[in-house]
Amino acid sequence: MPEKYLNKITQGDCVPLLRNIPDNSVDVTFADPPFNLKKKYNSTKDSLALQEYLDWCEQWINEMVRVTKPTGSIFLHNIPKWLTYYTAFLNKIAHFKHWISWDAPTSPMGKSLQPSHYGILFYAKDAKQNKFYEVRYPHKRCRKCGYLHKDYGGKKGMLRPFGPLLSDVWTDIHRVKHNKYRDDHPCQLPIHLLERVILMSTDEGDIVLDPFSGTGTTALAAKRLGRNFIGLELDKEYVQISENRLRQEEPNSRIGNIWVSFFLDEIVTLRDIDWEELSRYYIVPEPIEDIDHTAIIAKNDKSNGYTPKKNKQMSDLPLFIELREGRKA
Ligand SMILES: C[S@@+](CC[C@H](N)C(=O)[O-])C[C@H]1O[C@@H](n2cnc3c(N)ncnc32)[C@H](O)[C@@H]1O
Repeated sequence: MPEKYLNKITQGDCVPLLRNIPDNSVDVTFADPPFNLKKKYNSTKDSLALQEYLDWCEQWINEMVRVTKPTGSIFLHNIPKWLTYYTAFLNKIAHFKHWISWDAPTSPMGKSLQPSHYGILFYAKDAKQNKFYEVRYPHKRCRKCGYLHKDYGGKKGMLRPFGPLLSDVWTDIHRVKHNKYRDDHPCQLPIHLLERVILMSTDEGDIVLDPFSGTGTTALAAKRLGRNFIGLELDKEYVQISENRLRQEEPNSRIGNIWVSFFLDEIVTLRDIDWEELSRYYIVPEPIEDIDHTAIIAKNDKSNGYTPKKNKQMSDLPLFIELREGRKA
């Protein structure tokens, strides 16, 4: 891997830049390209003719797959309309794993169904060698009574303390909406969305590449989780914002030696294989059926190396506040 791209955001057009990256050299590629919806980016005209947009997408998708290692994964985030075309390209050069539906309501379109999800295509470069870790998210509970939303009926004895395994429908991560709480960019993704993708597809030290880095969300998530990153971004101002954000960030999103994703000081994603080690930091109700009405509680024992609050940076606070407001809405 050319050192000149590693752990920085390189300014420029991603297609020629990707051509400088060797075959099979990156563990995961994630792309959140312009959606061709006339968004107001600084440096991109987000309104190409249909075929022009698709031809351009095919170029960078081919490059993404080429640079991904045989053990690696390719993730593409977009509106469903464009993903239907992307699958046609990708099915020829990679292996379909999932269409992740990220539940995120958008503005009413009128005279049609209300669009309520973005898609994240998840492909493996090689189905047999693909690196993947099952992840869990916290049980959803009634805010008033504390009981689990889902009725497990006679299967409560099989409840898992932290929460269920993640499916391909993600309903627990909210979009960053209000302008006053975000960087100066029209469509920044929430960091813990990327942290989830990274936790399930990489190990510490792996390389994550994002060809449309924007204000650096993927790079930030990778850095927080002890991974390496390569960010490519056309716009100088977005590169500058990313660099400022990255300077303030540390690889500290963990409890003890276990990397996890936090939101509002609570874990929102952890790897299934890590729960056994993490469970010693929690009081788990007994018998296990009691999980139905009683949540696990962090022991708050600093002598064990447990940091109850992630070492947040001030720059994160607006995002957390925004996301909390989004939840109330
Ligand atoms: C949807 S945004 C990505 C936002 C990003 N995921 C974030 O959370 O900040 C798409 C980005 O791609 C950039 N872009 C557009 N064309 C590009 C190109 N040819 N090469 C590199 N970046 C490009 C735009 O400037 C914009 O920042």
